[in-house]
Amino acid sequence: MPQHIAIIMDGNGRWAKRRGMPRTAGHAAGASTFKAIARHANKIGVPFMTVYAFSTENWKRPPEEVDNIMKLLKDYLKDAKNFKDENIKVRFIGNLEVLDEEIKALIKEDEEASKDATGMTLNIALNYGGRDELVRATKEICKRVQSGALSVDEIDEQTVSDSLYTAGQPDPDFIIRPSGEYRLSNYLIWQSAYAEFWFSDILWPDFKPRDLDRAIRDFGHRNRRFGGV
Ligand code: IPE
Ligand code: IPE
Ligand code: MG
Repeated sequence: MPQHIAIIMDGNGRWAKRRGMPRTAGHAAGASTFKAIARHANKIGVPFMTVYAFSTENWKRPPEEVDNIMKLLKDYLKDAKNFKDENIKVRFIGNLEVLDEEIKALIKEDEEASKDATGMTLNIALNYGGRDELVRATKEICKRVQSGALSVDEIDEQTVSDSLYTAGQPDPDFIIRPSGEYRLSNYLIWQSAYAEFWFSDILWPDFKPRDLDRAIRDFGHRNRRFGGV
């Protein structure tokens, strides 16, 4: 069983287009898939899961589409009992400062409401970018050096890991990207150094719990050497 599954929830737009529907319908369908997959992952005992909900690059999309994604996010956040009943601990990673006040308040509420959950930890990556995360980590480390709390020679890989949003969590060992794209799109670039990848042509709204099971079975057959023999 992977310890930390990271998913790039991609293909909502194409899913809608194929059905002659607006892209927004694809995002709504993708949101339902997200809930079903998170519930399933928790049920089968996945300890950590991180999903890519909105990247630092996604602001390039038409404002109507961005608004629609934020609205779906608000609906999801308002339904905080989602996490309570499921015993899922939810956390948000990314540059959250620039989000609107209502979303920020809801995020706080939901993180607080689920903080004692003992099931899966679910990170929702929102306005997340791997490079942005590394720039922030670099600044944080520099400030600690400037203040004298840390010396340059003390900086090691752990220092960097501890300065990321995912501090304290195991690195993702399994990254799933549906929709037929073969790239990371600025996702967890430090953390994915030794992750296994699983790609599929399935569009995210069509992704089913059995697809997750299949991916996890494949993961079980991977030979992970970490540079050894
Ligand atoms: C992923 O689906 C959702 C977000 C990026 C928010 P897309 O909207 O990227 O779907 P495609 O790639 O256009 O099909
Ligand atoms: C990655 O998907 C981001 C999310 C799924 C939130 P994109 O659709 O934005 O990625 P690109 O543009 O195909 O690389
Ligand atoms: Mg896409």
